[in-house]
Amino acid sequence: MSKVYDIAYIPGDGIGEEVVREGLKVLDAAESVWGFRTKREAMPYGAEHFLKTGETMPDEAFDRLRDMNAVLLGAIGDPRIEVGKLEFAIIAGMRFKLDLFVNLRPIKLFDSRLCPLKDKGPNDVDMIICRENTEGAYAGIYGHLRKGTPDEVAHQSMIYTRKGVERIIRYAFERAMHRPRKKVTLIDKANALRSQDIWTRTFAEVASEYPSIETDHAYIDAACMWMVKNPEWFDVAVCPNLFGDIITDLGAMIQGGMGVAASGNLHPGKVSMFEPIHGSAPKYKGQNKANPVATIMAISMMLDYLGETEAAAGVEQVVADLIREGTIRSLSAGVHKTDEVGDMVVNALKATRA
Ligand code: IPM
Ligand code: MN
Repeated sequence: MSKVYDIAYIPGDGIGEEVVREGLKVLDAAESVWGFRTKREAMPYGAEHFLKTGETMPDEAFDRLRDMNAVLLGAIGDPRIEVGKLEFAIIAGMRFKLDLFVNLRPIKLFDSRLCPLKDKGPNDVDMIICRENTEGAYAGIYGHLRKGTPDEVAHQSMIYTRKGVERIIRYAFERAMHRPRKKVTLIDKANALRSQDIWTRTFAEVASEYPSIETDHAYIDAACMWMVKNPEWFDVAVCPNLFGDIITDLGAMIQGGMGVAASGNLHPGKVSMFEPIHGSAPKYKGQNKANPVATIMAISMMLDYLGETEAAAGVEQVVADLIREGTIRSLSAGVHKTDEVGDMVVNALKATRA
């Protein structure tokens, strides 16, 4: 009997609906090629739902997600709504309430023509960033004093727990064990943010349990520089939440842009959430212009997480081949139609069936 996975999907705002539609089309094709099944449940959360009901994402929805194997998220964000309100309630909501402590962001270049760096190719840009996803500057500890007056004070605290730091570092080392280069780089700013010495110490302790893994260190400012100058130095990198947010946008650019960058928000063994890194791009909404490749890559990551590793690798291979051979000419919005790219991937997947 084939396996059945319970998948929730939240198309969200802007181009979310269109890219998720194409992602699920690719999932259908992968199911028929590799012989597993999914049971899917749509969830309506996002701007329209909020404007209609006043509800962002209710507790029952998080409870429902706990019974699922995985969640696919399109995009959240709408200019009609206060900046950050929905993002915090839905994206950060899932990360925190489902304790998705790993934000896994692969940075892999499929073809040199997508890379803005001179003389760099697929062999130079192939790394994974393990971004801590449940604490740091995102912990929600902030406030204002005398708000709106000339004497206003605002503060936001970054917090790191020993448990939180250790589990993401350990995750990075475990990933590195399964990669040929076996190297983990710690990215922090412990020279200026002295509390981050908890990262330095924890990293050294965990590293001592993995003698076969090479270790390296870079402060976040230098890491930004090295990632542009010598991306080949990175294999697996681990970093606090905010630095991971920033450096993975830089990483997305050297792998071909937001049109291809995907991420997994994981709690190994529990329901995990997969999403393209790009935003909701409201100006392209409903025009069939958005590029769904990042969402399709999120589907590949989801399949890998579910243990459908052949299907995951198959989807990635098909996308890489379509890009390399030039069938997918560009990852920018408007070059191909959204559904056209979905069809290309589906047809190529079906052709891989012996
Ligand atoms: C990301 C996004 C989010 C983040 C926003 C939308 C809250 O930029 O997933 O990288 O800062 O984590
Ligand atoms: Mn970001």
